[in-house]
Amino acid sequence: MSTITVTPIAGSLGAEVCGVDLRTMDNSAWATVHQAFLDHKVIAIRGQDLGPQDMMDVGARFGEPNHYPFVKGLDGFPFLFDVIKEPGEKRNFGGGWHSDTTYMKAPPMATLLYALETPQRGGDTLYCDMVAAYESLTPKMKEMLGSLNGVFSAGLKNSGGRSLHHAQIGAMKVTAGETADTYEAVHPIVRTVEETGQKAIYCSKVHTTHFEGMTGDESQPLIEWLVEHATRPEFTCRVHWEPGTLTVWDNRRVMHNAINDYHGMRRHMRRLTSGPTVPV
Ligand SMILES: [Fe+2]
Repeated sequence: MSTITVTPIAGSLGAEVCGVDLRTMDNSAWATVHQAFLDHKVIAIRGQDLGPQDMMDVGARFGEPNHYPFVKGLDGFPFLFDVIKEPGEKRNFGGGWHSDTTYMKAPPMATLLYALETPQRGGDTLYCDMVAAYESLTPKMKEMLGSLNGVFSAGLKNSGGRSLHHAQIGAMKVTAGETADTYEAVHPIVRTVEETGQKAIYCSKVHTTHFEGMTGDESQPLIEWLVEHATRPEFTCRVHWEPGTLTVWDNRRVMHNAINDYHGMRRHMRRLTSGPTVPV
C-alpha cells in the first residue's frame, strides 16, 4: 500500500511530496508522483538521495533530456549541471521571473532541481501559476493575447547582457555567453498544455524581447503588465529547500524566481531539464 503524501503548500499551485524513494519507486508510486505534478504544477519531493544516474533516471520519466547551452555539464552526464553560489558571490543564477530556456525551439517541459547544500536560511524559490493568471483575464484580453506570438532571446538584454551575467556567476562552468544573442525562438504568448487542456500565459521580462510584428517599445508595457499580473501574491507559492529536496516544475505552466537573499552562505544545486516540447 502506498504511503506517499501530497500536501498543497499554497492556494494556487505547489505541493510537497513525502514518503517516496525516487530511486526504487514502482510504476504505481510514479503514477502518484506524476499525478501530483499534473495537479499542482510544482512538486517538492523531500528526503531523496540522488546520484547523477538516479537523477537522469527520474528525469527520463518526464521525457528526453534537454541540453542547456550556457553551462558545462558534469563529466559523463552532459545534461546535468551544478548551480552554485559561493559565499563570496553576490549575483545568483536563476533570479528574475522566467520559464527555462524559452529561447529554444523546443523548451523543456520539466525542470528538475536537486538540493545538495543549502544556506542556513534563505535561498528559497518562488513560483507563479501562469494558468491561474490566464484564467483570471477578461475574455477580450484573452482574445487579444491569443493573437500574439512572442520573440524569446537568450541575450538577457534587459539586465545588461548574458556576458555580464556570466562574469558575475564565477563559481559555475559557464560557456557560450558571447553567442547568446543567436539563440532566439518565436512562441505563442498563450500556450495550451496537452495533458490538461489548460491555457497558460507564456511570457517573461527575462527572455521575451517583443511581440512578433511589434517594436520593443510597443511591446514592453504589455510584457511588464503580464508579468506583474502573473506574479500577484495569490498566484504564487514558495519552496524552501533542504538537502535532499528534488523540486520538479512545469515550465509550460509556471515561472520561477530564485531568491538571492543568502549572501555569505553557500548554495549548491544540480539541474536537469526534460521533455523538449514545442509550445502550441
Ligand atoms: Fe530557471
